[in-house]
Amino acid sequence: MKVLVIHGPNLNLLGKRETGIYGKKSLNDINKCISTLASELGIKVRILQLNNEGEIIEAIQKSDYDALIINPAAYTHTSIAIRDALLAVGKPAIEVHLSNIYRREEFRKKSFMADVAVGQISGFGPESYLLALRAVKSILSK
Ligand code: DQA
Repeated sequence: MKVLVIHGPNLNLLGKRETGIYGKKSLNDINKCISTLASELGIKVRILQLNNEGEIIEAIQKSDYDALIINPAAYTHTSIAIRDALLAVGKPAIEVHLSNIYRREEFRKKSFMADVAVGQISGFGPESYLLALRAVKSILSK
């Protein structure tokens, strides 16, 4: 079971960036938790942080994974190109957000990924990624 995790733009600044919204954990802290749970679940995980839309699309297109966990960050609300890449590859994808995007500004309520993802997990902080891993395990075990 191979799972690709993609953190989108500005998530490399976690722990320093708007900590009232995104919390004090660094991306490195979060990635350690993801790796620990992945090995407990028997999932081989590859984790990338990419600030660039084109690089995210290239990583999605490589498709050497069984499922994708993606926090597209601000591209969630703008990127038809990332949406099209998800559709083109057709692998099960789970959309993740640290914050609850429906409790924030109006423009964050629109996700171009939500209806092409298997599901969306939003608002649980770093735990959102761990819930997504458990969801992936269940989807791929069926
Ligand atoms: C985010 C929510 C997005 O609206 C925002 O642009 C981000 C992070 C989240 O994880 O809560 O960068 O995806």
